Amino acid sequence: MIELQGLTKRYGDKTAVDHLTFTVRPGVVTGFLGPNGAGKSTTMRMLLGLDTPTSGDVRIDGRHYAQLSEPLKHIGALLDAKAIHGGRTAYNHLLCIAQSNRIPAHRVSEVLETVGLTAVARKRSKGFSLGMGQRLGIAAALLGDPEILMFDEPVNGLDPEGIHWIRNLMKGLAAQGRTVFVSSHLMSEMALTAEHLIVIGRGRLLADTSMADFIEKNSRSYVRVRTPQPERFKDVLTAAGHTVVTTGDGSFEITGTEAAQLGELAAQHQLVLHELSPQRASLEEAFMQLTAESVEYHAHGAVTPGAPPPMPVAPGAQQWQQPPAAPPAQPGQPPQQQPGGQQWGSQWRNPGSGKGR
Ligand SMILES: Nc1ncnc2c1ncn2[C@@H]1O[C@H](COP(=O)(O)OP(=O)(O)OP(=O)(O)O)[C@@H](O)[C@H]1O
Ligand SMILES: [Mg+2]
Repeated sequence: MIELQGLTKRYGDKTAVDHLTFTVRPGVVTGFLGPNGAGKSTTMRMLLGLDTPTSGDVRIDGRHYAQLSEPLKHIGALLDAKAIHGGRTAYNHLLCIAQSNRIPAHRVSEVLETVGLTAVARKRSKGFSLGMGQRLGIAAALLGDPEILMFDEPVNGLDPEGIHWIRNLMKGLAAQGRTVFVSSHLMSEMALTAEHLIVIGRGRLLADTSMADFIEKNSRSYVRVRTPQPERFKDVLTAAGHTVVTTGDGSFEITGTEAAQLGELAAQHQLVLHELSPQRASLEEAFMQLTAESVEYHAHGAVTPGAPPPMPVAPGAQQWQQPPAAPPAQPGQPPQQQPGGQQWGSQWRNPGSGKGR
């Protein structure tokens, strides 16, 4: 378990981390999200004693990192995959870490096998690609077989097979009852991997909630309806008090109701439906909605501070509503189905789950 209490870090007049209080619990993958410069890496560095908090406290299983007698057996971390001695082979890099932390040497081969680097174990790491470096960093994190794992953007540079592998690895580690804390900017990947989310912006806590609640609270969900009798159904819907958005492709988007109710309404009026599908917004949409005002670094021509996230209405979209009705629903992006029960674990090209037993 990782516990932060009022954790704050200032660099001169810049407050990188601002009174963060949250707990990262075992048994689930906890995603750590925030725009560039939000303070994620600074938080992680303080956790490992690599930076000193200006105020507040951060503990690993109730103790400060410096108080852990054999820290790599408590917490394994990947912060910077490039922070390795390029002249050392992958094997020797890990052996150095193992020997200086009283970790048996056989773990080196085990973790190299786990991350799929056995074939290049005797190669100097300076020749490694970005993805190979990430894998070596993950191997180092797993070396001490720790109960807590922390990864700062581990997916960077990994190929699709590697992304799939690390997703399964993290979920597998959490399923073993370990604490897994991971930052990433890849929202689609995070949606598949994390069950719980900590979101920060400009150093402050914005959300500490389950993935499902986060998406629910920070984005709209709606029902998409497609019918060959659009005018009649539109009349029925507005008469029933629903706000209807027609999209460019001729379908309707209706918020604030359930698919079942709309299906029954259509049946009562003997209307044919070609589609009746509940739509949930993506994690990306929810994240951008929540953090719109916390984004510090904008690309030229991108969203402006304080502006809502880019959620364009489909071309040609129009709205009808029954007065006096609620304000029109916020137009949304073309909906993305939220991935639910991800199948995993059947085909591991990278052997092992990191436990090495
Ligand atoms: N050593 C340092 N000296 C001065 N300022 C720093 C230092 N380290 C971080 N900062 C500042 O603290 C803020 C938070 O940086 P941090 O690297 O923690 O953000 P992040 O959330 O990890 O961002 P990213 O998503 O880009 O990795 C930034 O404004 C950064 O410039
Ligand atoms: Mg960072």
